[in-house]
Amino acid sequence: MALRTQVGIVGAGPAGLVLAHLLGRDGIESIVVESRSRQYTEDRVRAGVIEQGVAALMAETGLGDRLHREGLVHHGIELRFGGRGHRIDFQDLAKGSVVIYPQNKVVGDLFDARAAAGAQTFFEAEDVSVHDFGGATPETKPKIRFRAGGEAQEIVCDFIAGCDGFHGICRPSVPAEALKVFERIYPFGWLGILAEAPPSSDELIYAYHERGFALLSMRSPQLSRLYIQCAPDEDIRQWPDERIWRELHARLATADGKWKLTEGPIVQKGVTGMRSFVVEPMQFGRMFLAGDAAHIVPPTGAKGLNLAVTDVRVLARGLAEFYASGRQDLLNDYSKICLRRIWKVQRFSWWMTSMLHLFDTDNAFDQRRQLAELDYVTSSRAASQTLAENYVGLPMEWD
Ligand code: FAD
Ligand code: DHB
Repeated sequence: MALRTQVGIVGAGPAGLVLAHLLGRDGIESIVVESRSRQYTEDRVRAGVIEQGVAALMAETGLGDRLHREGLVHHGIELRFGGRGHRIDFQDLAKGSVVIYPQNKVVGDLFDARAAAGAQTFFEAEDVSVHDFGGATPETKPKIRFRAGGEAQEIVCDFIAGCDGFHGICRPSVPAEALKVFERIYPFGWLGILAEAPPSSDELIYAYHERGFALLSMRSPQLSRLYIQCAPDEDIRQWPDERIWRELHARLATADGKWKLTEGPIVQKGVTGMRSFVVEPMQFGRMFLAGDAAHIVPPTGAKGLNLAVTDVRVLARGLAEFYASGRQDLLNDYSKICLRRIWKVQRFSWWMTSMLHLFDTDNAFDQRRQLAELDYVTSSRAASQTLAENYVGLPMEWD
């Protein structure tokens, strides 16, 4: 027996879950199919910075309680280079802020909202595949097939939302000739740790250093999140805790020696490679790609989760228009509307990455150029304003 729904969603990350949540508020049914367990998706340590517009959207749609209670509102960041810190004041420069609130809490809040609404989610789905979304005839309906609890399942739907991340199956199911890929792979990655130590700064610190980039972030007043630039295929076994702390101390040190980095037990560590990636268009027939399934940004600038949410906001509006009036204008423009913002965010993430990391192809000239850029960004109001308005979040859509 096939299950029926209006929108079949592949992937229970931020893109899939926020989409399901927004659709539910408009009375549109969806079923979510996820290959991992709920526990796994909720425990995965990932993003931490929420743009102000995304935080507002969460609050407006009933997801604001824990966010307001536990989220840390930040009105600026520090850029540290040449042994000195320089603050970028978001309040003054962009009348804005960001909220430090971990992705796993966002995902947990969305699962709770979904359970309260009685909506259906399949976890630990195996052999997920998508069919008949090309729209050969209006009668052929898109289908999602998978196995769950040892049983074969089929969901027949009006539309499929491919929210299954960069390594998912939706994008590769589109005929390759229908998609154009734009990509840049960076010659480095980030080694990230979560440490039970109070953050050593009230705000995030992005540090440029001759040994490589470092970032001090946080998850709560008791938990620090720290990153160091490393090789893209760095072997984490070569990084005992003492080596990680030594490197962090060196890269984050100030010239006056007054700033202190607080250490604590490391409870999680991992290495992430870095790439910029966009696929165009983000639609094929009745399947829409959203979030990391359609694009990846390097993490400097903290945009991945935010972009996933802004994509599905556009998609939810398009689907709501379709179900209310039968009109497809917004759905037809989905890709165009999203890509206009995505490319600006790609540019910002690439720029932050290029300014703050060491590239093995760079020479002493390039390093002086990077320092000059950092000096310019922190001393020109126009330049700091550009950073601030991108960091707190560009408008969700342009007219
Ligand atoms: P995902 O979160 O990847 O969700 C996709 C879901 O689909 C997953 O649950 C996956 O299990 C599931 N799936 C995959 N294949 C299948 C399949 N075949 N069938 C069914 N389900 C499937 N972004 C920020 O905005 N700010 C940050 O500070 C930030 N920091 C980051 C730090 C790190 C270390 C990393 C790795 C990422 C960071 N990001 C950050 C990026 C952010 O985490 C992602 O952009 C975000 O998770 C994208 O959401 P998504 O829903 O599109 O994809
Ligand atoms: C975090 C990640 C980022 O990529 C970033 O730019 C800032 C903070 C984080 O995980 O806290």
